[in-house]
Amino acid sequence: MELRTLSPADLCELLARHGIRRFFLVWDEEAGRIQASHPLLEPLAGLLEEDQRDFDRHEGVFVQIAQRTGVLQSAFVHRTCRGQGAGGTRYWRYDTVEDFLRDGLRLARGMTHKNALAGLWWGGGKGVMARGTGQVTDLEVRRLMYEEYGELITSLQGCYVTAEDVGTSVEDMAAIFRRTRFTTCIPPELGGSGNPSGPTALGVVRGMEAALRHLGRGTLAGKTVAVQGLGHVGEPLVGFLAERGVRRVVGSDIDPGRRELAGRFPGLDLEVRIVERGDNSVLAEPADIVAPCATGGILNSRTIPGIQAPIVCGAANNQLEDPERDDAILQERGILYLPDFLVNRMGIVNCADEQYGYLEDDPRIESHLGDTWDNSVFNLSLKVLEEAERSGRTTARVALDLAEERSRELHPIWGHRGAAIIRSLVQTGWAGAD
Ligand code: NAI
Repeated sequence: MELRTLSPADLCELLARHGIRRFFLVWDEEAGRIQASHPLLEPLAGLLEEDQRDFDRHEGVFVQIAQRTGVLQSAFVHRTCRGQGAGGTRYWRYDTVEDFLRDGLRLARGMTHKNALAGLWWGGGKGVMARGTGQVTDLEVRRLMYEEYGELITSLQGCYVTAEDVGTSVEDMAAIFRRTRFTTCIPPELGGSGNPSGPTALGVVRGMEAALRHLGRGTLAGKTVAVQGLGHVGEPLVGFLAERGVRRVVGSDIDPGRRELAGRFPGLDLEVRIVERGDNSVLAEPADIVAPCATGGILNSRTIPGIQAPIVCGAANNQLEDPERDDAILQERGILYLPDFLVNRMGIVNCADEQYGYLEDDPRIESHLGDTWDNSVFNLSLKVLEEAERSGRTTARVALDLAEERSRELHPIWGHRGAAIIRSLVQTGWAGAD
């Protein structure tokens, strides 16, 4: 059986049989290849090296089986030129080791681009923990699992800073914070910025407004918006849309509990549809805007032909299943696509400067949401849309090129320190250390 096709739980078993508790896959710039910490893991290094799509010379992938809970935990560090690799920790179910790795790689790279476009002095990283590994039987064990994740982050000596993501709550962040200083999104009562989802939703609204402006379609007032996913971001998004006079929202979710949202927003015609996992029919709703706010990979050759709305703008990370192909299909269909990493920055912006203190209505944060700063979500979205129109390139390509360029700028004080930290982890035998 190949390593890549194993389930994460079977990988844990295999590693345990070989006495391996931690492993890394680190990009060796000089050798031009990936260095695996153990010969057993060489096939995964080979998988990444041959990959053209998701692997992008990520500086380091660090994986551990948590000692007490047995959960497979990881940190993916993509590029740290602008500063520490920063991005949230996802607790999610994966069928195979390959799915687990690909998700981490893609998400970490997306964070590099998001942070660079937002002008943050941070590189890109992401944490991934595999549901279904270990024995997470109750809330006490769950807390322990996040504490162990905090220990993993501490062991990485600051090349990765974590935050909240899908499957992880603010309480979980508090558990991480018990074991590491390299985290954000901790609860306000511990001096943090708390749940970032409301600001994320507001940033998405600003992206929508830029798209409407670009198309000469006025404001959100009176419009119809289809929202996939009524979770932490989707729910406040509906509220902000209602505040801006949107007439109708069709929202879908797989969680029947979300039905309770119907009737919560006076003046808004809100229809909540409960769907099966994998049902993307809401994307084909007749609407002015479609907002994917659930999972990634939902814009693809199967869904794009059905989209009727002229604008796609939502919070979900990695919406394009194949970034090289699907943005072109959207463009051919005349659909204006606001790349996720351009408009969903506010979650990370909200927690980015936690260590510098926190203000109500922080002007630093507000500047991202306004239209006076040229790098605000609204203005940068307009710039990307205009450049795409002028050059004939897709919006995703324009945003990506700009993000790539910015992501290679060196941190004005610390330079490429993250890469130095990773080298020292390799030299000091991180994977063998307890
Ligand atoms: P969440 O887990 O709170 O909400 C997602 C919702 O989507 C859940 O209610 C879930 O039941 C639903 N869902 C899952 N599959 C679905 C499907 N096929 N159809 C309809 N609904 C479905 O997650 P959250 O925090 O709202 O994030 C949503 C997306 O936005 C994720 O992709 C996340 O990575 C991204 N994002 C979130 C940020 C934040 O601040 N929370 C920041 C940046 C990105």
